[in-house]
Amino acid sequence: MVMRKESILITGGAGFIGSHTVEQLLEEGHAVRVLDNFSSGKRSNLPDHPRLEIHEGDICRRDDVRAAMQDIDRCLHLAAQVSVAFSLEHPDLSAVQNINGTVNVMHAARIHGIKRLVFASSAAIYGVPQQLPLTEDSAVAPLSPYGLEKSVNEQYAMLMTQLHDMPMLGLRYFNIYGPRQDPKSPYAGVISLFVDRLTAGQAPQIYGDGQQTRDFVFVKDIARANSAALFSTHRGVCNVATGGRVSLLELLDNLQKLLGTSLQAEFLAARAGDIQHSQGCPQRLGEWLNLIPRWSLDDGLRELLQARPSTHDSNAI
Ligand SMILES: NC(=O)c1ccc[n+]([C@@H]2O[C@H](COP(=O)([O-])OP(=O)(O)OC[C@H]3O[C@@H](n4cnc5c(N)ncnc54)[C@H](O)[C@@H]3O)[C@@H](O)[C@H]2O)c1
Repeated sequence: MVMRKESILITGGAGFIGSHTVEQLLEEGHAVRVLDNFSSGKRSNLPDHPRLEIHEGDICRRDDVRAAMQDIDRCLHLAAQVSVAFSLEHPDLSAVQNINGTVNVMHAARIHGIKRLVFASSAAIYGVPQQLPLTEDSAVAPLSPYGLEKSVNEQYAMLMTQLHDMPMLGLRYFNIYGPRQDPKSPYAGVISLFVDRLTAGQAPQIYGDGQQTRDFVFVKDIARANSAALFSTHRGVCNVATGGRVSLLELLDNLQKLLGTSLQAEFLAARAGDIQHSQGCPQRLGEWLNLIPRWSLDDGLRELLQARPSTHDSNAI
């Protein structure tokens, strides 16, 4: 099928997931516009490209969002306050970004008659799983304001679809890793934290006993899912997961093998609110978006290590 090339707005496009999705959509031949306030995203994450336009602005400012929506066909909404810890400390500020900001984007998408809005939800909405793997029908019981905000976003989407027939899909991303994930950010994924410490010759830190498991998805598979979601016709919510799970100890072992290190882990007290196991069912991802994650954990880790900045080159694989 030949797909018509379209204009796509990505809010939060200068961030980790956004910048990989920008690359994916440019490769597919689309024109991409990024709306980002650069609070955690960086211009250097984005390529110079004749089909890429950057709008500096804030999803919490109505005029910024409306200006960015002009002449746009489809929108991927990723911009958010992404720290669970921040949301626990400042639920008021977090809600402004993650609820008001999202409603601004959804409302502007309606006013501009956008063909389709895809937005970032999260596995954080599930809380402590009652059974594994988690399917889209599993109970929603978030443990943090961040998780609750994502769940509220999904409910807004459901209501707006009902009221205004807006085509929207929420993607429940599981644990994402890959190049450009900032280990210094307060929400840094465990993989970027492990890599940061191992390559600096420091003991990797594990909260709890390391037996906890996660479903790790490589960011390039997330970018593929985002693109597929933008051009699908399904509405509702969909997990973006591999269907597998790996313990933190196994993960650390794999990483040490790839890096040729053998540092002893430092075990710290388990963090309140951390769940023991997480694993998503990717069946709907296959059925709705025709997508099977391509990247094995080993291949993804290799790619991540190869993409690291040159200051760490002495440890590169
Ligand atoms: N990384 C993960 O493992 C993960 C898992 C589940 C869900 N998510 C969700 O995916 C989305 C992207 O996350 P990420 O990991 O790429 O984070 P990120 O911090 O790298 O990207 C977020 C981007 O949004 C921008 N931004 C933040 N607030 C903004 C505002 N008010 N106006 C405009 N731009 C703003 C930031 O500058 C940044 O470029 C978020 O909605 C996040 O909640 C991420």
